[in-house]
Amino acid sequence: MGTLFKNGTIITASDMIQADVLVEGEKVTLIGSNIDSKGHEVVNCKGKYLMPGGIDVHTHLDLSFGGTYSNDDFDTGHKAAAFGGTTMHIDFAMQPKGGSLHDALKIWRKKAELAQVDYSFHLGITDLRDEVMDEIPTLADEGITSLKLFMAYKNVFQIDDKTLYRAMQQAAKHGMIVMVHAENGDVEEQLRLQLLSEGKTDPIWHYYSRPPEIEGEATNRAVVMSGMTGCSLYVVHMTCDPAIEAMRRGRAQGFPVMGETCVQYFHVTRDKHLGAPGFEGAKYVCSPPIRNLHEQGTLWQAVKDGTLQAVSTDHCDFWYEGSVGPWQEWSKAHNGGDWAEFEAQDPTYRRPGKDLGKGDFSKIPNGLPGIEDRMMVMWHLGVNGGKISPTRFVELNCTNPAKIFGMYPRKGTISVGGDADIVVWDPKKSHTISAKTHHMRVDYNLYEGMKVKGMPTQVYLRGKKVVDGDNWYGSNGSGQFIARKPYAPVL
Ligand code: URP
Ligand code: ZN
Ligand code: ZN
Repeated sequence: MGTLFKNGTIITASDMIQADVLVEGEKVTLIGSNIDSKGHEVVNCKGKYLMPGGIDVHTHLDLSFGGTYSNDDFDTGHKAAAFGGTTMHIDFAMQPKGGSLHDALKIWRKKAELAQVDYSFHLGITDLRDEVMDEIPTLADEGITSLKLFMAYKNVFQIDDKTLYRAMQQAAKHGMIVMVHAENGDVEEQLRLQLLSEGKTDPIWHYYSRPPEIEGEATNRAVVMSGMTGCSLYVVHMTCDPAIEAMRRGRAQGFPVMGETCVQYFHVTRDKHLGAPGFEGAKYVCSPPIRNLHEQGTLWQAVKDGTLQAVSTDHCDFWYEGSVGPWQEWSKAHNGGDWAEFEAQDPTYRRPGKDLGKGDFSKIPNGLPGIEDRMMVMWHLGVNGGKISPTRFVELNCTNPAKIFGMYPRKGTISVGGDADIVVWDPKKSHTISAKTHHMRVDYNLYEGMKVKGMPTQVYLRGKKVVDGDNWYGSNGSGQFIARKPYAPVL
């Protein structure tokens, strides 16, 4: 017996067609008109769209960062993702100090034991020693085909130009893609120290420590290196004109360069949100910083004209009101200690959050929530707002992420033989986004009060229903690691 999705309209990156979809086991086995329903469970999709499950290729679950850990893990973050129509994500497994890339994988595989939806890892390189260089080709054998390097976060994740260049040379040889966080971390450090020395400590100064120029400069540097090495490049969370212009120049020269922006950059602004009175602006501190209405126009143009290929979330959420003291004390007493062990003692304990940066913007953990909201907000602002078509919506949120990161057509579309990750989407259903009702483990929502029209009503992961309305049917361990292929196309 299969599951037969009847009377819906399938949206792929290229078409909207009325057809039935038959799912048997984990796969789509037939697409056609009037498929005989005998022996199958029928899901009536009249008036609904059938879309491939969303793929968010930029998330940070349970990441040790900014003096704390991001809140959502592979349990809570996965449920939240699925309630928003996202059935797969790629997280960044970060190389630990002094450790190997396989050490990073070990740590992230442990976190992923909780997985409720499908996932993969990008490998975040922080220290490219010779033996680490030799490890790179072995990653592809394990289904990991993307590396990430940070050109910012001085003394934390930042690498130098030589490291980036060498990583690109090695990745190019093995058909892997290099991703960069593009901001000039040296200039950022100088600006930050200068601002703090002038007593400029409120959240809004975070913006002025990371102006568009430092994003544009670093983007250009990475784009040029991609042209020189022939390595596919994917620039994450692009936000502003100088960066988009660098991307356009590289693409016009035929370099293998691509980029994404994130959903939050289409909504929150420096002036209204980051500049909110008191400490409120801390809720919106992320890097690169939230920009303004002008940049929103730039980004819509870039996703429309193909300068950018994908929209992700950079989901990395921290409590607005966390708990600053207890973990630090415990960790001191236990000589560093193990975070999981500490948390297990008191499940109601809140990780330290944005409040770490009261009185000093540079200590506010960088990152925002969004894994649940991406599809609904992009549909609402993009499709309902007349900016992008439904097919482009699917392309940006599902199909291109799968193509760029080597898992198409298994993921990212609805086609015979592909995984049955299917979102039943009701374009007429409205929902008011709120921290009171969302599933993310965080005490605020960037889109609080936004009334979106269009949302998932049911979500299937490899043929199994995980979401039906407000009900959750997934379980820990039901999410699978998805092995990816090298030599993915440049779009
Ligand atoms: O502010 C951000 N973006 N935090 C997450 C880490 C990163 O830079 O992607
Ligand atoms: Zn980043
Ligand atoms: Zn990120």
